[in-house]
Amino acid sequence: MKALIFDTHAHYDDEQFDTDREELLGQVLPQKGVCRVLNMGADLAGCRDTLALTRAYDYIYGAVGIHPECAKELPADWLSQLRSLLKEEKIVAVGEIGLDYHWLEECPKDRQKEVFEAQLALSKELSLPVAVHDREAHGDTLALLKKFRPKGVVHCFSGSLEMAREVLKLDMYLGFGGVVTFKNARHAQEVVREIPLERLLLETDAPYMSPEPYRGKRNDSSLIYYVAEKIGELRDISPEMVLKAARDNAGRLFGIPTERN
Ligand code: NI
Repeated sequence: MKALIFDTHAHYDDEQFDTDREELLGQVLPQKGVCRVLNMGADLAGCRDTLALTRAYDYIYGAVGIHPECAKELPADWLSQLRSLLKEEKIVAVGEIGLDYHWLEECPKDRQKEVFEAQLALSKELSLPVAVHDREAHGDTLALLKKFRPKGVVHCFSGSLEMAREVLKLDMYLGFGGVVTFKNARHAQEVVREIPLERLLLETDAPYMSPEPYRGKRNDSSLIYYVAEKIGELRDISPEMVLKAARDNAGRLFGIPTERN
């Protein structure tokens, strides 16, 4: 079984890829078995860059949204800008959206919630899944997910097993990346061991969150193999089985064909 990787959360528009983006996306990643990438916009410029990436590379799809850290000041027509980007064929989700109470100086809570709610409503209006960022905001994130009940994924899931079960009850997916390979990640490891395999997605958050043994270095989608290896070890199945299940799950959630490489 060939190890085909579907990375459901990456930021290849990030300036850390400015020096070698073409080589990496055009050659290196496909050669290493990366068959699908969902690139996340975090602000309006990043959303436009995401669209450009989906046009340049067959295997790259996109999500567009406003990240909580970028939500403080937006042009009056930001929501209609997103709405028109979401009509593009390869833009398949609203993301990256959510709440981040770690960096409150970037954007106050009330404003974060307002922008998150507007985008949850947009996802419902267009029947598109969401990619949700939740950092130190588990209670409020869950409350809003229960209110809107979108399809989608809580990415880089960092909550407890109890919260994971609440998210699963909403028929949502949980995304896992490099963190599960860290020695001190008992929480995330417990969750990946316990949840049904058919609700698990793999992701990088590249250029951030590299798995062991590359922790601290620039991340890219090929390193997901190490995450699949760790999850396989925790669940006592092969990394290839983890990759295949996660790829099927991502294809189903985002409506992306995964058979053709
Ligand atoms: Ni991200």
